[in-house]
Amino acid sequence: MFTIIYKSKAKADFTPNQILQMLKKANVHNKKHNITGCLLYHRGDFLQLIEGAEKDVRALYTVISKDPRHTEVNLLSAEKTLLRSFKDWNMVYNDLDYDSNDVEEKRRLFHEIFYGGEALSNPGRSKLVLWKEVNAILNEKKTSGL
Ligand SMILES: Cc1cc2nc3c(=O)[nH]c(=O)nc-3n(C[C@H](O)[C@H](O)[C@H](O)COP(=O)(O)O)c2cc1C
Repeated sequence: MFTIIYKSKAKADFTPNQILQMLKKANVHNKKHNITGCLLYHRGDFLQLIEGAEKDVRALYTVISKDPRHTEVNLLSAEKTLLRSFKDWNMVYNDLDYDSNDVEEKRRLFHEIFYGGEALSNPGRSKLVLWKEVNAILNEKKTSGL
């Protein structure tokens, strides 16, 4: 198992509707290659976690990093991992500001992920716990149904 996490900035003309269209295709591709993960969006920033076989994950990241629909693609981590954090989703999507019922806990979590830095780059347990929390919150919300 191999996991890549990166951050990027959405182009201003990449609309929510186009993001959902892109995700439909992405889910088909990811399913075929046994790739799972999550794509989080907050005020124009993307943060994506991609997990699967190393060669598939690296190949997908190479494609994604050249995609003109986002810029400033910044690799945060690329490492061998023991378990999948998002085994039930080929690519679950969530926009922090989309759901006005967002709970405080989710805001805290997203802020830690997008702006905290440390939790993401820290190897080991704290990171696992962090993604477990993200998974639990997205699961609760059954976001976007993808
Ligand atoms: C932020 C972002 C995340 C993406 N995530 C995925 C993904 O998880 N899986 C995927 O196959 N394509 C993903 N893509 C799309 C790829 O960059 C690329 O467009 C696609 O794989 C090529 O498919 P197509 O030629 O059929 O459009 C993503 C693109 C962006 C901008």
